[in-house]
Amino acid sequence: MSRQYRLIDKWLSEVDHALRTASSRNNRGQRANPAEEKGAEATELSDEERTLAAGLMRVNHSGEIAAQALYKGQSLLARNKALWEHLQEAADEEVDHLAWCEDRLRELGSQPSRLAPFWYAGSYTMGALAGLAGDKWSLGFIEETEKQVTAHLESHLERLPEKDLRSRQIIEQMREDEMEHAESAHKAGAAPLPEPIKRAMTGIAKVMTTTSFRW
Ligand SMILES: [Fe+2]
Ligand SMILES: [Fe+2]
Repeated sequence: MSRQYRLIDKWLSEVDHALRTASSRNNRGQRANPAEEKGAEATELSDEERTLAAGLMRVNHSGEIAAQALYKGQSLLARNKALWEHLQEAADEEVDHLAWCEDRLRELGSQPSRLAPFWYAGSYTMGALAGLAGDKWSLGFIEETEKQVTAHLESHLERLPEKDLRSRQIIEQMREDEMEHAESAHKAGAAPLPEPIKRAMTGIAKVMTTTSFRW
């Protein structure tokens, strides 16, 4: 295959992944949904509790859409193969998270954010920029992102209705995985990001979480 065809092929597969991830309601991962696996009881929630739980799960779902795009964007420009494989492994676990959040939103009678295509496009660009900066920065970006996601998940565990066991089981497993993703990026040689970049990331995350909660 000529170089030009390989490039076109690569781009078509990137676009295909973007469309499938951002528009699908049936993403499927490899691991079982923790709520199913641990047999978490489906408890009766009031309208208010259901709205809160759905809002938080929608925020988490948007975060997972963004994670897919970040990892894809970074993989595109990763310079060494070991790093690419590392990113691929983490991206596969993020598909599980995406699928679990979708399942829970469906159970709550709700749906993912309508802005999902924007989250994907913006995050893909940010991932590609991190990749362009070089592998150690790309890993630093993963470590910081995963730490911020872990903090969000912890705050969700505090805000979720106590009796919403199914959402809780999912979030607890996600939190464990995201901590591991941060740890493995650190071990792989992540460079600590400059404070202004960290603050910018917090600001962008704030926009995404606030809007996804409602839309
Ligand atoms: Fe995740
Ligand atoms: Fe992660």
